[in-house]
Amino acid sequence: MAISQIISLFLLHLLLPLASISLSQSSHQLICEVGTGNGGSIGGTSLLPASLSKLLIKGGTVVNAHRQERADVYVEDGIIVAVKPNIKVGDEVTVLDATGRYVMPGGIDPHTHLDAEFMGTVAVDDFFSGQAAALAGGTTMHIDFVHPVNGSLMSGFEAYEKKASKSCMDYGFHMVIRHWDESVSKEMEIMVKEKGINSFKFFMAYKGTFMVDDAVLLRGMKRCKSLGALAMVHAENGDAVFEGQKRMIERGITGPEGHALSRPPMLEAEATGRAIRLASFVNTPLYVVHVMSIDAMEEIAKARKTGQKVIGEPVVSGLVLDDSKLWDPDFITAAKYVMSPPIRESGHNKALQAALSTGVLQLVGTDHCTFNSSQKAFGIDDFRKIPNGVNGIEERMHLVWDTMVESGQISVTDFVRITSTECARIFNIYPRKGAILVGSDADIIIFNPNSSFEINPRSHHSRTNTNVYEGRKGKGKVEVTISRGRIVWKDDELKVAPGSGKYIPMPPFGFLFDGIEKIDAKLVSSFKAPVHRFKSDV
Ligand code: URP
Ligand code: ZN
Ligand code: ZN
Repeated sequence: MAISQIISLFLLHLLLPLASISLSQSSHQLICEVGTGNGGSIGGTSLLPASLSKLLIKGGTVVNAHRQERADVYVEDGIIVAVKPNIKVGDEVTVLDATGRYVMPGGIDPHTHLDAEFMGTVAVDDFFSGQAAALAGGTTMHIDFVHPVNGSLMSGFEAYEKKASKSCMDYGFHMVIRHWDESVSKEMEIMVKEKGINSFKFFMAYKGTFMVDDAVLLRGMKRCKSLGALAMVHAENGDAVFEGQKRMIERGITGPEGHALSRPPMLEAEATGRAIRLASFVNTPLYVVHVMSIDAMEEIAKARKTGQKVIGEPVVSGLVLDDSKLWDPDFITAAKYVMSPPIRESGHNKALQAALSTGVLQLVGTDHCTFNSSQKAFGIDDFRKIPNGVNGIEERMHLVWDTMVESGQISVTDFVRITSTECARIFNIYPRKGAILVGSDADIIIFNPNSSFEINPRSHHSRTNTNVYEGRKGKGKVEVTISRGRIVWKDDELKVAPGSGKYIPMPPFGFLFDGIEKIDAKLVSSFKAPVHRFKSDV
């Protein structure tokens, strides 16, 4: 959707409280419900939109990660209250016919950057437009990365509370750690115990801005372990990347292809292996974000074989694209594919798909971080200035279905696992999220495997004017998205309310921490130390 259309929607929203606005587009419609939310306040209670009511999804195949079954799903006040065949209801209940469709948990995207300040600019999708796009693609929750402000985690959290106040779907936060001192250590505890954050991310690249050294990484991992929080890494050797970039510029390679050439897979593998070994040394679980290469994936495979708790997250771009477009003679076409780690040459994508289907990698994110063509053009003379990031929050569910299920690589239950349930489990919000079970939030999609999708930047819902998946077609279509009991996407029409999204606090000590203390105890008992010495006469 055009940026101007979303802006005017927003302005109308501000000017016309308690009114309802609708806007026709060439192929989609977006209706912005106003006066129905209370701002989706974090930590407080949110008024549920007035349209929230009783809902029956009839005649579909309900798919959870653990099984699929023919059943109806009955929802009241945003919560699933019954999952069984032949549910009978009265006239006051809205009934959706799901015959011939899959009824699945809405997607959860573990990796997004909405409204993110990055490389001297701000990502164009904010918590409204990015989430609206997500809902149109069947994703009903995402976890975004909060950056500290002036070194303070609390200030960063408060800044993101504000950014997220326009949310139209549920969301959680990871927190980025950019330096180390006593106050960071103390604030990490506050984030976990009072603010619902159970994961901290460390950038091993972006030298001079986000990058931390091994000393910070080690201290951070230790603190994560003591708090029951998951350590996450962007794994590339930032010093070597810096050197690689210099090399390219010295050779006169200043275009987007220089981005890929300056940071080859070996640098991703080195940092992945290093983070894995440090996490093993500390004995704490590790989550590696955006695994883009065979080389990094193999480091994860090796560690997992030894029993180490390492989670590997591929992103859609790494699974379905290759780096060929970075050599396109048109700068804007090439620059839109610039992200880090880079999209790799053909072959890595298929290997990552295989790793996902065999359980070496566990869940799929997007790293949705969108910049429009004019922002990408900041790097016209120097690839180092191209803002890094691609879209995907709207496309993930369709592309994963088409690439993984339609191709026969995984089952429908596996699809639910890698797009939703595993994320909910890892970040300790299962079965509230990631499941169609009695008591779960009613975040549900109705998916037609016999329909089809086509991706087009003119009809997508992101604010960006490009789409790295432009022209992709495939089988399967999210026909209906239900966000905590509200039908927000149906008949290619979005009905979203700014402020209706809720912050989902994520408690510490998820399942990855099970047994950690036993491994610690085993290690200590293996020391055969301290040795009680006597001093022999000399
Ligand atoms: O290129 C990327 N990945 N942009 C977003 C920031 C990050 O590294 O995750
Ligand atoms: Zn990253
Ligand atoms: Zn990212």
